[in-house]
Amino acid sequence: MTSSTTKPTRYAATTRALHWIVALMVLATIPVGVIMLQDGLSRDLRNTLFILHKNGGVIILLLVVLRLGWRARNPAPPLPDSVPPLQARIAHLAHGALYALLLVMALSGYVRVRAGGFPVEMLDAIGMPGLVPRSDSLAETAKWVHATARFALVALILAHIAAGLNHLRKRDGVFERIWPPFGRGRV
Ligand code: HEM
Ligand code: HEM
Repeated sequence: MTSSTTKPTRYAATTRALHWIVALMVLATIPVGVIMLQDGLSRDLRNTLFILHKNGGVIILLLVVLRLGWRARNPAPPLPDSVPPLQARIAHLAHGALYALLLVMALSGYVRVRAGGFPVEMLDAIGMPGLVPRSDSLAETAKWVHATARFALVALILAHIAAGLNHLRKRDGVFERIWPPFGRGRV
């Protein structure tokens, strides 16, 4: 039981919901991005995967921007004292890098598609014009950024998941800051 004067020890329900929705979407978007580029797929399957990947990526972008706006007003609760300051600093930097890489991935994907003259079905449906000029060289640069930054994103996500599972194993209260995804949960 917490009183109204006790400092929060876990993320707000909105933060937790956004974390797990974005996490699931990113964990699905990466393999879809890799599979859709493989040889031997039928045209229909490739098109479906491209549509899922591009539009899912745009939704991730919107959710990350929403999350950053929400975070600016709702800072992370203080970590338990058992977490050494250096580890807390590294975790803070890693979380910042995760946000930055998600933005780089989503924006470079958008630029690659729009500069290449391709559709983003969801945005086309609401009549949103392309925000970048049609340019093959810009599309190629964005394609390179997208294909390169994914290695950093995957590496960081693996390290992040390993750290999260390590906290779960140690039962030091850090995993419970972000879990369960919805509702009040155990405080
Ligand atoms: C693609 C997948 C994921 C992404 C992009 C991601 C991203 C993030 C970010 C940016 C934060 C910092 C929240 C903030 O303070 O603003 C965070 C926190 C956290 N994440 Fe993830 N996450 C992912 C998957 C996971 C998974 C699978 C786990 C479980 C093993 C996990 C466990 C945690 C924990 C325990 C925290 C809280 C850390 C703390 O309180 O300092 N995350 N995540
Ligand atoms: C956080 C969001 C995103 C992630 C994690 C992601 C991840 C990936 C990955 C892993 C690949 C495979 C790269 C390769 O094997 O070379 C890929 C390819 C691709 N992605 Fe994304 N993506 C995201 C957002 C987007 C968005 C928003 C768009 C477009 C609106 C997009 C468009 C593409 C395209 C067109 C390719 C194929 C690139 C090529 O022409 O070779 N992606 N993405």
